[in-house]
Amino acid sequence: MKERLNLWFGKTKQADRVDITSGKIPKHVAVIMDGNGRWARKRGLPRVAGHHQGMKNVKQITMTANDLGIEILTLYAFSTENWKRPKDEVDFLMKLPQEFLGLEIEELIKNNVQIRMMGSREGLPEHALRPIEEGIERTKNNTGLILNFALNYGGRKELLYAAKQLCESVSRGELKPEELTEEHMEAVLQSSGLPDPDLLIRTSGELRVSNFMLWQMAYTEMWFTDALWPEFTKEHFYEAIAGYQQRARRFGGI
Ligand code: IPE
Ligand code: IPE
Ligand code: MG
Repeated sequence: MKERLNLWFGKTKQADRVDITSGKIPKHVAVIMDGNGRWARKRGLPRVAGHHQGMKNVKQITMTANDLGIEILTLYAFSTENWKRPKDEVDFLMKLPQEFLGLEIEELIKNNVQIRMMGSREGLPEHALRPIEEGIERTKNNTGLILNFALNYGGRKELLYAAKQLCESVSRGELKPEELTEEHMEAVLQSSGLPDPDLLIRTSGELRVSNFMLWQMAYTEMWFTDALWPEFTKEHFYEAIAGYQQRARRFGGI
C-alpha cells in the first residue's frame, strides 16, 4: 500500500511522482464521514470517542481541501436517520459543532473559509445551531473554500421540501406545472447556488449513499475507501483526487 501511495503525490513530494496539482482538481467534493464508531470499538473505546476523533479530523481535511484549491467541501455530519441512535450518542454528536467551531473558527476565518449548512434547522438543539449560525454570519463575506456542513440532512427530506415549495408557487399562481424546469428545482434545494459535487468520498468501506444529496449526485464520481473517517489522512484524500483525475466523465455523451 505504501508503494502505491507514493504514486499519488503533489507538491510536497518528489517530482517524479504523479503530481495531482497539475491535473484537474474537482470543484466540489462531498464526503460521507463514516466509521467513527468502528474506529473507537477497534481500540476498545466507546463510540463517542470515535466521534471526537472524527471531529478533529475535519480540520485537517478542510485545510487539505483548501490547499488543493477545492472550492466547496461538503461534509455529511448527521443524517435525518441518525436520530435513531441511542440518546447519549446523539447528545454527544450535538455538542460537537460548538466544540469544533470554538476551537477552529478563528483559524477558519484567517484562511478565508466560508461556513454553510444544509439540513433542517428544526429539531436541532439551540447549542448546536447557534455556533453554526454564528460561524455562517462571521464568515459570510469570506471568499475562499466553502465548508458546507450537512447536518440533520436527508436527501429525501430535501426533495420533499423542494416539492412542497414548488407546489406552493404553483398554487399562488407564480408558476405553471408545465413550466417547471430543473433550474426551478435546484433553486429550492438546500444546495442552491452550489454546483453539484464532482466527487463523493465515502470512508469505512460502506458502498451506499445513505440518503445523501440524491438529486445532486446524478453525475458525481464516487470514491470508496476502507479507511475509517478518524484515520482518513490527507494522503487518502490525495489518492481519491488522483483516482478522480483518471475518470472519463461523459455525462451521457461519448
Ligand atoms: C459516522 O460514523 C458519523 C455519523 C454517522 C454521525 P458512524 O457513527 O456511523 O460510525 P460506524 O459506521 O458506526 O463505524
Ligand atoms: C451516513 O452514515 C451519515 C453520516 C456519515 C453522517 P451512517 O453510518 O448513518 O449510514 P448507514 O446507516 O451505515 O447507511
Ligand atoms: Mg456509520
